[in-house]
Amino acid sequence: MPALYNLACDGLLPKRFALVGVAMDELTTEQFRAKMSTDIRQFSTRKQFDDEVWSDFVRHLSYSPGAFEDATTYARIAALVTQLDGEWQTEGNVLYYLAVPPPLFGLISAHLARAGGTAADRGWRRVVVEKPFGHDLASAIELSRELLKHWREDQIYRIDHYLGKETVQNLLAFRFSNGMFEPLWNRNHIDHIQLAVAETVGVEGRGRYYERAGVVRDMIQNHMFQMLAYLCMEPPISFRPEAIRNEKAKVLDAVRIMRPEDVLTNTVRGQYGRGRKADGTDAVGYRQEPQVDPQSRTETFAAIKVFIDNWRWEGVPIYLRSGKALWRRGTEILVQLKKAPEVIFRETPAMERLESNQLIFHIQPDQEIEVRFQAKHPGPSMNLQKVNMRFDYREAFQAARATGYEVLLYHCMLGDAMLFSRTDLVESAWKIAQPILDVWAASPAEDFPNYPAGSWGPKAAFDLIERDGRKWLEVVNRSVIEQVPLFSACDAIFQHNIAMALKPEVYAPGDLIVRKGDIGREMYVLVNGEVEVLDRDGTALATLGAGSFFGEISLLLSEPRTASVRAREYCDLFVLDQRDFNRVLRDHPEFARSILEASKARYEVNIAAEQAFDRQVRLLMGG
Ligand code: BG6
Repeated sequence: MPALYNLACDGLLPKRFALVGVAMDELTTEQFRAKMSTDIRQFSTRKQFDDEVWSDFVRHLSYSPGAFEDATTYARIAALVTQLDGEWQTEGNVLYYLAVPPPLFGLISAHLARAGGTAADRGWRRVVVEKPFGHDLASAIELSRELLKHWREDQIYRIDHYLGKETVQNLLAFRFSNGMFEPLWNRNHIDHIQLAVAETVGVEGRGRYYERAGVVRDMIQNHMFQMLAYLCMEPPISFRPEAIRNEKAKVLDAVRIMRPEDVLTNTVRGQYGRGRKADGTDAVGYRQEPQVDPQSRTETFAAIKVFIDNWRWEGVPIYLRSGKALWRRGTEILVQLKKAPEVIFRETPAMERLESNQLIFHIQPDQEIEVRFQAKHPGPSMNLQKVNMRFDYREAFQAARATGYEVLLYHCMLGDAMLFSRTDLVESAWKIAQPILDVWAASPAEDFPNYPAGSWGPKAAFDLIERDGRKWLEVVNRSVIEQVPLFSACDAIFQHNIAMALKPEVYAPGDLIVRKGDIGREMYVLVNGEVEVLDRDGTALATLGAGSFFGEISLLLSEPRTASVRAREYCDLFVLDQRDFNRVLRDHPEFARSILEASKARYEVNIAAEQAFDRQVRLLMGG
């Protein structure tokens, strides 16, 4: 309803339009209109509510109660549609929108067909079906068979609301309207790709549905594979719907189907346990959610690695990751390029700082495209630092916030199926997901829950990518940095730089993070969880909680670690490696000062000026 209302506000809804709501609730048209008029004020996405548009729009709404298995429901619908067609002169065009569970798609279609609702002697008839389209490959094939008994393929619109997002549609515009990146878009230049959909919400009262779905069916098989297809497909010969759908189908067909042993090595699953919400309040675990089995083995998190076996992508790993009840909400796609040759930088300080270029699509809530590359750090020597350029939708466009459904409904009414999934595409997506679902079902996870609500997800997901010598991109924005006391007082340039330098790591309870005697190569900032500092014989000297940091002394002094640090709980940490640490110390005296003061106070370490390796630190200490 908010989407239709937005279309009306933007002048994109025809005046000759009528809408009929059909459900079990015994409402009259007047009651239905009254309910919609109340609800729209709560759910509208517009900054200003336009009463004039709504009062005109609401006159187009009618309601007809009825049960879906009852033939008389459809006779009433047919009569009402004929009547409204006459009143509003809609030329016989009818779009059915089935926001119902998939087992009802066939039943409703059969009844509509019997009541003469699927074929038109004038105008068109179309049907929109919502996800999930099937429960697995077999049921999706069966569902398509059912639908195709009553509808032609070109009448069926399988909706996936991710394709309604401007930033997702922009993937195609970005790739194919710019000459800059497409020549690099292949295995010769791209090291790997990451797609991540992180959600802070849990299952939000949808336990009954989610128990049977799990994250692969709920997010990966549909929304994420759709994004993957846009990102990796070949250029279509035109922007005509079939041209695009053909290329999407081809690329999904080329995704390597995992063998059972691949599932064991290339996937990680997770389920959230009790934890904390972003606002610090307690969060229940998945098993404590309403309508969820207290012993449930349903996955609320997954990380998987796939390959596309075609000319363009052979050997390029694509990592997908999605989960509920995570520490932040964000959908991002990272395209990481291969490193430039290092050889000419040898014998310069830049040699050890060369990093890969990264192109990041921020799909939501940030709507941006970012490129990360290196620049010369100001100063007399050839030193490099990672910097970025960002294009932000809010700075470039003044579009009103939309629900994502506007463009989908609009395209359906025009008969443009570009943003909808064809039968073959849905089946290809299920073929990729099926072995994962099968192996997981055959060997239920023994370690659930394996990540606390509000955390960064299971440790095994980090291992999955780190085994390949890579790291997840965790997008750290200013608000995250500001919550870390050590960084909060620092200036904006510092916060911007540090956000790109921090790397995420996760430890399970009992893991040793720092070992006494080792040479320190990084410092740590604890974002979630608790660690204990241990002396030589393993006695705990102190416990540190979220917001604290450790590991800096050995970097400051270039000496072995003076104590061990062990995770007491699941811990999410930011890691700052030695090179970045040295750089920020040098560039940001206020940071160096707060590090020194905090370390002195906490460990009673008296760092003599001459001990400090860094000139900046020595100056600060009066040496
Ligand atoms: C839906 C899933 O399809 O997408 C939900 O069923 C999920 O579980 C939602 O929360 C995410 O959509 P968005 O637009 O908030 O990313």
